[in-house]
Amino acid sequence: MDLIELKNSAEKELEKIAKSTELKSFFDKYLGKKGEIRQLFSLVKNLTEEERKKLGQEINEFARNLEAKVADLEKDLRKKEIEIEENSKSLDVSLSGSKIETGHLNPLTLTRREMERIFELMGFSVVDGPEVEDEWHNFDSLNIPEGHPARDALSLGKTYYLKNGNVLRTQTSSAQTRYMEKMTPPIRIVIPGKVYRYETTDASHEINFYQIEGLLVDENVSVANLKAVLRKFLNEFFERDVEIRLRPSYFPFTEPSFEVDMLCTVCNGKGCAACKRSGWVEILGTGIVHPNVIKNGKLDPKKYKGFAFGMAIDRMAMMKYKINDVRLFHSGNLKFLKQF
Ligand code: DAH
Repeated sequence: MDLIELKNSAEKELEKIAKSTELKSFFDKYLGKKGEIRQLFSLVKNLTEEERKKLGQEINEFARNLEAKVADLEKDLRKKEIEIEENSKSLDVSLSGSKIETGHLNPLTLTRREMERIFELMGFSVVDGPEVEDEWHNFDSLNIPEGHPARDALSLGKTYYLKNGNVLRTQTSSAQTRYMEKMTPPIRIVIPGKVYRYETTDASHEINFYQIEGLLVDENVSVANLKAVLRKFLNEFFERDVEIRLRPSYFPFTEPSFEVDMLCTVCNGKGCAACKRSGWVEILGTGIVHPNVIKNGKLDPKKYKGFAFGMAIDRMAMMKYKINDVRLFHSGNLKFLKQF
């Protein structure tokens, strides 16, 4: 190679260099002890003194130039390579992966599923009822005929009526007679679902909440059976012996009727927002199914008896997780939701 060829090829190769290892071989090839430039110098020996001087200078100049370029490029490449190395250091593949946010089930869903699980273990089937209900199933069939004072006191003032005369169910009890109509006893069902009530919301009231209804119909059913099932359920649900009290009460669809209170778990009976400062929380209504309801379900009340109960899933979730405001469930507050 003569000097011109050497300059050309060196320039082209230098342009393509992207790594310092490549630069090192480039240096060896051109500027190394056995490199092209040395070889060119050895050819100069055979020239006349004048030519030798001239070419020698040119080669020297080229060599210095090339060395400078190599030095610059080396600096640049080093910098980049150090950067890459630094960045790759922050990726420690031996660390365990960061948790991927997968979303959470609402505590109401967790509670409903847990309740369903326990009732299923006790031989109940989980069934569904319509949220848009006719008045017959929501009221009349449950022994709450039009004009009956209970209808007003219990639900009428809180009922959302639809234009077609149907209602948004105020209670999951509305599905009771639907299933009696369809099934032959023994009947053992629970009906979880949404209910709607027109009321002022506060720490313990929502216009839209969840209930779970229980219904057992068979030939010999007593209050003792009812109590045993409820106690078993509550102990399972709260995973301990739960302190409850049974109060005689009134529901048109049961006779006798009871309300069950449990000691407030949020304040342990001291009184708080969740229990309206009373220390006790009403968790369910229950009783022996009224013969009229059995009849409305197209079953023979002389042959069949039953017990029923209805409880608010929201309230059970509050008691289980010690939540003091029912409105939190639908608040979309991630700080709250992420705890479950
Ligand atoms: N439906 C009643 C309510 O919403 C609760 C209830 C009471 C359900 C007694 C029942 C029952 O099945 O027997 O307040």
